[in-house]
Amino acid sequence: MTVGVLTGGGDCPGLNAAIRAVVLRAAARGHRTVGFLDGWKGVRDGQSRPLDPSDVRGLVGKGGTILGSSRTNPFAKEDDARRVIETLRASGVDALIAIGGDDTLSAARELHRRGGRVVGVPKTMDNDVEGTDWTFGFFSSVSVATEAAERLRDTAESHHRAVVLEVMGRHAGWVALLTGLASGADVTLLPEVPYDEAAMIAAVRRAVEARGYAVVIASEGIDLGRRGSAGGRDEFGHELLGERGVGQEIARRIEAATHVESRSAQIGHIQRGGPPVVFDRVLASRLGAAAVDFALSGQLGVVAVLRGREIAAIPFDQAVGATRRVEPAWIDLLRTLEG
Ligand code: F6P
Repeated sequence: MTVGVLTGGGDCPGLNAAIRAVVLRAAARGHRTVGFLDGWKGVRDGQSRPLDPSDVRGLVGKGGTILGSSRTNPFAKEDDARRVIETLRASGVDALIAIGGDDTLSAARELHRRGGRVVGVPKTMDNDVEGTDWTFGFFSSVSVATEAAERLRDTAESHHRAVVLEVMGRHAGWVALLTGLASGADVTLLPEVPYDEAAMIAAVRRAVEARGYAVVIASEGIDLGRRGSAGGRDEFGHELLGERGVGQEIARRIEAATHVESRSAQIGHIQRGGPPVVFDRVLASRLGAAAVDFALSGQLGVVAVLRGREIAAIPFDQAVGATRRVEPAWIDLLRTLEG
C-alpha cells in the first residue's frame, strides 16, 4: 500500500512526531509513505515527496512540520476538489492520513463523502476539537504561555504594575484557562464567559491591594464589545483574532480605571513553535501509528482520538463542525483558584 500524509492548518508542536509515527508504522508493516507538501495545497497541486524511515529520524522532538502547512480549503472550488481526487489517484495513494484541526478534518470529511479513502488525526494548540480528550500541541503551547506569564509576573511585582498576557486559542478558552490555572493568575478571561469589566477591575484592585501587582490572562477570542475591531480573515473565513489586540485594550482600561501602571504582552506565534512536551510527543506518536493501523485494517472515514488512556476511531461527524469549548466545571475551578 501507499499511505499519504499531510499536515494542514496552523502548525503546532508534535506534528513531526505524528509524521514520523506514520512513516515508521507503515514501513514496519511493509508499506510506503508519500508526504504532501503544505497541507491540502500539496494534494491540490500534486506536490509531494516520498518519506522513508531515514527522512524522519530525529524528528520526535522537533517543532513545526517537515511537510509544511497551509490553510488551503481544497473544496472551496469544484475545480480544486477535482484536482485533489485526481492527484490522489495519480499518486497511487491507497489511504490518506490528514493531520489537522477542524478545517483540515472538515476537508477530510468532504473527501470521504466523495469516496476518498482518508483517516483523520486531530492536532491543534487550541484544543478545540470535539471527540478527543486532548489534542497534541496544546500542552506544549500552554507550557510556553505559563512560562511567559511567570516572567511577566516578576516584572509586574518589581514595578507594582498590572500586566495582561494575551494568548491565542481562537473561540475556545482552553489556552487561557490552563495558562491561568498553571500560573496562578489573578484574572483569566475566556470567550466562554461574557466579559464583565467591573468584575475584572475589582479583581485587579484586590490583587494590587493585597500584593502590589496583578496578572491577567486574556484569551484573544474574548468580546470586549468594541466596534470596528475586526481583523483580517483566513481562507476558511476565520477572523485573525490577534489583530484585535484585546490584551492591549484591557491594559489600557485597567490603567484608566485604577491608575495602576499597566502593560500588556501578546505571546502570539511564540507559543506555537518549539519542541513538543513529552505528552504531545507521545500522543502524536500514538495517533500517527493508530491512523496507519486503521487505514490498513480498512477502517476509513474515521478520526483517531484519545479517549481516556486508549486511542479510538470515531466517525468524522463526531469530531468536526463544532468547537469544543471550556465546560462549566473548569470555569468553577478557575474561579475557586483565581487571585
Ligand atoms: O488555530 C491555531 C491558532 O494559533 C489560533 O490560536 C490563532 O487564532 C490562529 O491559529 C492564528 O493563525 P495564523 O497563524 O494564521 O495567524
